Amino acid sequence: MTNHRIALIPGDGIGAEVLPAARRVLDVVAGRHGIGLTYTSYDDWSCERYLREGAMMPADGLDRLRDKDAILLGAVGHPGVPDHVSLWGLLIPIRRGFRQYVNLRPVRVFDGVDSPVRGARPGEVDFVVVRENVEGEYSEVGGRFHKGLPDETAVQEAVFTRPGVTRVLDYAFGLAARRGGRLTSATKSNGIVHTMPFWDELVAERAAAFPGVAWDSEHIDALAAKFVLEPGRFDVVVASNLFGDILSDLAAAVAGSIGIAPAANLDPEREFPSMFEPVHGSAPDIAGRGIANPLGAIGAAAMMLDHLGHPAAAKNVMDAIVSVLAGTDVRTPDLGGTATTAEFTDRLLALL
Ligand code: NAI
Ligand code: MG
Repeated sequence: MTNHRIALIPGDGIGAEVLPAARRVLDVVAGRHGIGLTYTSYDDWSCERYLREGAMMPADGLDRLRDKDAILLGAVGHPGVPDHVSLWGLLIPIRRGFRQYVNLRPVRVFDGVDSPVRGARPGEVDFVVVRENVEGEYSEVGGRFHKGLPDETAVQEAVFTRPGVTRVLDYAFGLAARRGGRLTSATKSNGIVHTMPFWDELVAERAAAFPGVAWDSEHIDALAAKFVLEPGRFDVVVASNLFGDILSDLAAAVAGSIGIAPAANLDPEREFPSMFEPVHGSAPDIAGRGIANPLGAIGAAAMMLDHLGHPAAAKNVMDAIVSVLAGTDVRTPDLGGTATTAEFTDRLLALL
């Protein structure tokens, strides 16, 4: 039996509510498919720890994760801690330290979920956002000058490297070749005159290596509108770190709820563990009430199984998600129901 070492980082707020639900699903499906999963849980890597000790995780945090095969994360963020502290204290060091340069965010309108968007019909909307995950607009280069003076100034540099952009484009084109054969690149080369024309040039360059993929380029503003007006036209959308972040939340909302969207932070070279997480955050507004939708976390667990080499087990989980939404009316409140996280997970497990 293959055995995989899994790190669990529940984090803050509803992260700690949805991760146990994902774990219950994993336990059942792993048993069925003969997959060994050994868990190490890092329950106090969170904002609570930051408030107590001044750090989101121990100084040797990455070393503790290094020998794992995958990381399953809930969410981080707490109203008492600035968001850039929680993000840069845990999530971003893991993404960068483990070279997880692809952030993969599948978007699908499921049967039985009402999209707020009229044109988003089940079966028609099924695409993937590939977000560059380790450079771009999210950089530490820059600074604050003349602090506290009337001419106080902030400068933030975006960093786009040829190897960094090339590898994420190659991943996205490769994914499009395996899927529907269509790729859309998010740009803004009319307004951002250095990095975005460079991005566009590299898209054209890499496209030549994937002659089977039809591709186009859209400015991010127009693309945002098309996500709402014609979400069915997309297959693979590739975007820089910031653009991909915004687009994928928009796409999750188009799919019906941010609570159902999963994400994978991948090191495609598999030198380091990849990390799987729901797209949503810690949702302090509903935390502690046991009503969070666990589907984002459960979908992330399915992506983890797929990455670990168990596509049949992953499909088993995805089929259960499809069945519970299409075949029952049990829903958490974000999808208009009254079920708790545990009740919803029970129904899903019964269908697994
Ligand atoms: P959020 O995703 O936590 O919440 C946005 C809205 O969606 C809220 O109304 C929330 O109740 C709802 N929602 C989110 N997930 C849900 C679920 N599973 N079931 C039902 N409803 C759900 O984003 P927000 O409010 O901007 O951020 C809250 C905190 O989370 C902040 O501290 C932020 O920095 C952090 N955050 C962390 C992320 C991560 O760990 N990857 C990602 C996004 C935000
Ligand atoms: Mg986001």
